[in-house]
Amino acid sequence: MLSATTIQIIKSTVPVLEVHGVTITKRFYETMFAAHPELLNIFNHANQKQGRQQTALANAVYAAAVHIDNLAAILPVVKQIAHKHRSLGILPEHYPIVGQYLLGAIKDVLGDAATDEILGAWGEAYGVIADAFIGVEADMYKEAASATGGWDGFRRFRIIRKVKESEVITSFYFAPEDGGAISDFQPGQYISLKLQPEGQAFTQIRQYSLSDAPGHPHYRISVKREDACDSKPDGIISTYLHNELEEGSIVELSAPAGDFTLRTPDTRPLVLLSGGVGITPMLSMLNTTAQRQPERSVTFIHSAINGDTHAFRDHVTALAERHPEVKAYFCYQQPTPSDRASQLFDKEGYLDLAWLRQIIADKNADYYFCGPLPFMRAANRLLQELGVPQDDIHYEFFGPAASLSAEAEVV
Ligand SMILES: Cc1cc2nc3c(=O)[nH]c(=O)nc-3n(C[C@H](O)[C@H](O)[C@H](O)COP(=O)(O)OP(=O)(O)OC[C@H]3O[C@@H](n4cnc5c(N)ncnc54)[C@H](O)[C@@H]3O)c2cc1C
Ligand code: HEM
Repeated sequence: MLSATTIQIIKSTVPVLEVHGVTITKRFYETMFAAHPELLNIFNHANQKQGRQQTALANAVYAAAVHIDNLAAILPVVKQIAHKHRSLGILPEHYPIVGQYLLGAIKDVLGDAATDEILGAWGEAYGVIADAFIGVEADMYKEAASATGGWDGFRRFRIIRKVKESEVITSFYFAPEDGGAISDFQPGQYISLKLQPEGQAFTQIRQYSLSDAPGHPHYRISVKREDACDSKPDGIISTYLHNELEEGSIVELSAPAGDFTLRTPDTRPLVLLSGGVGITPMLSMLNTTAQRQPERSVTFIHSAINGDTHAFRDHVTALAERHPEVKAYFCYQQPTPSDRASQLFDKEGYLDLAWLRQIIADKNADYYFCGPLPFMRAANRLLQELGVPQDDIHYEFFGPAASLSAEAEVV
């Protein structure tokens, strides 16, 4: 239990630390990786370079600090991060390392302003926050390992099918090499995939949403190839999966994780919005709902650049034809001449309020969305403008969590 003085010091120093938040976390990562290069096997290097991970960690630590006397208030946030940690294989013994270098970074950046009293209070507070994460994660590890077909850590899987879904998206079907059962999952959840491509000094771990309904003896993911463009290099794992791995290749997967799942039991209409490869969790939700709740109304709205990059169009169209309660709408930013000739899209350009008003028959629905950050920001704003209560809006980031209330928006 923290003393009243410690709590008071923590709360009064949060604003100062927030100002230096990202500088502190950058310094923290530099010093931690210099002393513990083995941790580079766990962290996503691209997220580090783009600064998103530093911001996500800084925000989480300060949010926890503000609620230090009532961590239960931020339990949903803790759980969301804990899902990611469990999926990555973060263990209790990693926490003191992070604590040591985080405190060291606070000291380095604040200089003399970081008195012994302040550092002592933050050391204590970090211990309390770390214990909360360790406790939640311990339960998640137990649950993943004890589920039917479940397992601990990473397990070897073989690619049993590789299917091109569009010019940029390819699906991979995985069955366990040991021939055993696999654990069930909830539509919307993801797995972590671990690989060490040739020439890479460290193993690389990436998350991929499961893109089909549960209930098969295999998992399916669908991956967008992140080719180099402008000053950005090729994405390491997506291009390796697309270009190098074939049926028969082995990868390692951790058990399904994540809290972006359908709220059950719920029979209200469902609105699923996706942009680009953000279609993957939506497809799992769509397929599952059509199977298990065929009477439930689903409005499936997908935004793609054009018909060439649009994955699963035939599948979704056929499913909507078979299920009268499912309505599917496609929005193309830049339709090709052949898209125009075949008229396989419903709207040109970006999602907008007038169109959403027109196609969402019953606004009193549960809304889920996923896609690139600008798409997500626009979707969030549009749903707010539609008057959807925040409680009915759910989303997943395909990277570290970020703010949705931002400036630049492209759908
Ligand atoms: C919960 C979750 C679910 C996801 N589900 C899916 C899914 O279903 N399908 C899917 O395709 N993806 C999904 N992702 C994203 C996926 O995890 C990977 O991030 C994605 O495949 C890119 O990985 P990569 O190794 O190819 O690219 P990385 O090597 O990780 O690079 C990522 C991006 O950063 C850029 N980059 C790298 N280094 C630099 C640098 N120095 N400067 C500037 N830019 C740089 C690269 O060009 C690339 O565009 C999901 C992510 C999460 C968190
Ligand atoms: C109390 C301490 C910690 C806090 C508050 C914290 C917070 C976070 C947050 C906010 C994220 C981003 C989640 C998301 O948005 O997807 C994250 C991801 C992650 N965390 Fe932690 N974390 C803590 C401890 C640790 C420890 C001890 C390790 C292991 C050394 C660790 C390793 C990671 C990794 C590898 C990721 C994913 C990063 C990426 O893919 O770029 N974290 N953590």
